[in-house]
Order: sequence, then C-alpha cells, then structure tokens
Amino acid sequence: MHSLETVIFPVAGLGTRMLPATKSVPKELLPVYDTPLLQLAIDEALAAGARRLVFVSHPSKPGIQDYVTADPDLRAKLVAKQKTDLVRSLDRAAVADKVETHFVFQQTPLGLGHAVQCAAGFRNGGPVGVILPDDVILGAPCLSEMAAAYAPQTARHMVATMRVDDDTISRYGVFELTGQSNGASMMVSGMVEKPAPEKAPSNYAAVGRYLLDDSIFDHLDGLAPGLGGEIQLTDAIAQAQKTEGLCAFAFSGTRYDCGNREGLFQAASAYRELRLGDGGASGVPAMAMAAE
Ligand code: G1P
Repeated sequence: MHSLETVIFPVAGLGTRMLPATKSVPKELLPVYDTPLLQLAIDEALAAGARRLVFVSHPSKPGIQDYVTADPDLRAKLVAKQKTDLVRSLDRAAVADKVETHFVFQQTPLGLGHAVQCAAGFRNGGPVGVILPDDVILGAPCLSEMAAAYAPQTARHMVATMRVDDDTISRYGVFELTGQSNGASMMVSGMVEKPAPEKAPSNYAAVGRYLLDDSIFDHLDGLAPGLGGEIQLTDAIAQAQKTEGLCAFAFSGTRYDCGNREGLFQAASAYRELRLGDGGASGVPAMAMAAE
C-alpha cells in the first residue's frame, strides 16, 4: 500500500443547509448515530496511514479544534470513575495526541480548490489525501482501498467514483472515461464540475475522496475561477489529467450524502446496524478499529 502521510479535511463550510442544527454546532460534528461525521473522516485517514492531518476550517468553528484536542480533566474524571468505554471514546477523538494536526483558516468561501490550496504550506512532495466529511462511506475504508490501488506510474491522481442517475448527475464532478480499466481503477480522459444532465460525459460522479499528486498545488496556483465563480478542485484535476493521468476509483463501500438531513438519517441508520452487529463489545466498529 502506498504511504499517504498527509490528509486534508476541508471543513470551513457554514452548513447553512442543516440549520438550525448547525447554528452553533459545526456540521462536521453532527452525529452519525453516535459518532460525529468528522470522527468517521479522521478514522478513515488514520486507517490509510495518515500521520499529518490538515483541517481547513473557519474562525467561527472553534468546536472542530476542541474536538480533536485532548481534554485531560475530563479524562481524569472518567478514569477515576472507571468508565473505560468512555475513556476510549474520548481518546478516539483526541487525535492531536496521536498524529500531527494543523489548522488553517479559509476566511472566504472561494471553493473546494481554494480550500485545498489553503493547505499548500503542508505539501511535502508525496501524494496527499483529501476527505470531504459530508460524504460518509461505510463498509471498507475508501481511502485505504484507494491507497492500495494507487499506481502513480499509470495515473498520478485518483478520485473516488460511483454511478449516479441522470436526475442527480449535475450535483457532482463527472468523469469522461477512456474505457480502459484495471480492477476498480478506470482511466479518465476528462472531468467537468456539475454539468447539465445532457452535457454529462458519463454517469460516473466524483465522491469526496481524493488521492492527489503533490503537483495538484501547482495546478491550483493561479487557476481561474470556474463554476459559480469558485476555484474548483475539479478544474485543477482536469488540468492535471492531461499530462499526469487520472483514474476514477469505484470503491466498494456505500456512500451517504450527509450534507442533507435525509442522507444523514440514512447513514445513521446504517451505522447503527454496523455498531450493533459489532456486538457492542468494542464500542467501536471494525472500520474505526483498524485506525487504532
Ligand atoms: C464537491 C465537488 C464535486 C464532488 C462532490 C462530492 O461538490 O466539487 O466535484 O462531486 O463534492 O460530494 P460539493 O458537494 O461540495 O458542492
């Protein structure tokens, strides 16, 4: 498996679609049954071997930083009461104790490409992962699957994909495929952000997991605004594809769009099944345990 040191989490969005739930709680801390969206994203990054987590946040969301920071007083109280399971849950959140964590602010919502560019100071020559915590993927940890399949000699950039219907395709980045594939990796000849359904080059949509060569920061640098006047990550990847290669990876898990209440509800219900299926013995599902 390719070593993936750095994972970027774009978490600056204000989550207005989920008001009033997100009025004072960052949307990434909304629970999927009993586990915040952000925790699932962090677990997935750690499972893929990440050692440096970069959160691109907003100053109005201090809760994100609080969440990943250890709370020694609360921990000591729980230890004194012998609440072992709760101590484990608390330790699971305090990822800043385990790996490098960094916070940078995206003051203005200039797009996903801009958010990733905000983390450019942490580039280190190796590939970077990007996880959009709104896109929950249950089942096999998606980023680990991608890291295992990553073949930079063939395609230096990789984006998770799934098939979607014509009526929802215009919500996504969409791939034009060459027809060549290797296992779950399909070679891409173009990528377009949120096309009109009649202009969509395929039904393969981008999902919020990216494994990108370090060069992506060069492509983002000076990139003109795209759809909606925003700096689009899709546009930088489409540019990179031409010389560096891109593949779309058909992951095996199930994706839930937790940027809306219905998707969050469905993810919660599926995650609950996983948790109960785990027998409650560990208190943490198999996917998260891989990260511990
Ligand atoms: C972003 C990307 C889009 C991708 C989607 C996946 O869009 O810009 O290409 O398909 O995430 O969830 P957003 O949903 O943030 O508008």
